[in-house]
Amino acid sequence: MSSARAADRGRRAAIFEARPTLRVLCAVTLAGMLLLGAPFATRAQQPIVIKFSHVTTPDTPKGKGAEKFKELAEKYTGGKVRVEVYPNSQLYKDKEEIEALQLGAVQMLAPSTSKFAPIGIKEFEALDLPFIFPDEAGYLKATKGPVGKSLLQRLDGKGIAGLAFWDNGFHMISANKPLRKPRDLQGLKIRISGSKVADAYLRAMGALPQIIAFSELYQALQTGVVDGCENTPSNYYTQKLHEVQKHINVMNHGHLSYAVIANKKFWDGLPADIRAQLEKAMQEATDYTNSIASKENADALAAIKASGKSEVYEPTKEEREEWRQALLATYKGAESRVGKDIIAALQKETAVSQ
Ligand code: LMR
Repeated sequence: MSSARAADRGRRAAIFEARPTLRVLCAVTLAGMLLLGAPFATRAQQPIVIKFSHVTTPDTPKGKGAEKFKELAEKYTGGKVRVEVYPNSQLYKDKEEIEALQLGAVQMLAPSTSKFAPIGIKEFEALDLPFIFPDEAGYLKATKGPVGKSLLQRLDGKGIAGLAFWDNGFHMISANKPLRKPRDLQGLKIRISGSKVADAYLRAMGALPQIIAFSELYQALQTGVVDGCENTPSNYYTQKLHEVQKHINVMNHGHLSYAVIANKKFWDGLPADIRAQLEKAMQEATDYTNSIASKENADALAAIKASGKSEVYEPTKEEREEWRQALLATYKGAESRVGKDIIAALQKETAVSQ
């Protein structure tokens, strides 16, 4: 580990050692005092501050999307809104960040859609079904259509406003041994981010899935807490996961998407003109993010290959088909969890581009 990386990890560890609930509560109390003392209408000169927290680095599709939103939000509101972006799990890890948003300690996030089940919304996990999206076009069509809208609306009841879906491409899968056939995963501990659908399809291949926070993944791989993981090229590259995984298979079996969300009370309480300007900024930031995701991931994959740190394998059409067949059975099992209708609607929407 380089000394810069060690120092960075040390700093992050120190932040994480602070007790999460206590930190969330302090931040909420402070935010509450500020709000009570100066509601939107009377804070004439003070900009409205949006804390936008996320877990990836700034040079990922999500990191760039958050910066684009900041730029446009501040521009369209003429400075009446200030967006503070906190990347790389600086403020909160995966599970804490949703809790922090619901409590109002931060106003915006963009978690992976596989992280909503713990707050009681399992339907998003339909997006984790293996090979459900034939390509990016199919993904964009589905998330912009009725399925995407109905998923975002489900967040309402949890004190969350669902604003948009941001793309981050397809998953690769890796370990320290080649993964050419589904049976190669037998007995391997594979990190997942939380989805029970991902848990099911990995178990179907004999793997032992384990939930680990994204910020702890590098170390978990490095120290052998888990043997492998699945993620997108941009996440491998920016978290340096390829440096602690000897073999990567560009399987494209799963898809990583984000739901951009806001604390509902905060969002609904914004002056209407400001909310409209922010919606415009979000629309444009979404188009921007979705337009760069493929290239960002292609560039990251090329950089991983060039690094020579990991052997990157592109499966043949026949091999991918073998994995697809091995995983099809998990659709049946997922029906009772995420809803038969959502799976059917997703399959219908994506079929056009197949
Ligand atoms: C993961 O935990 O693997 C991803 O959700 C991280 C991210 O936000 O891209």
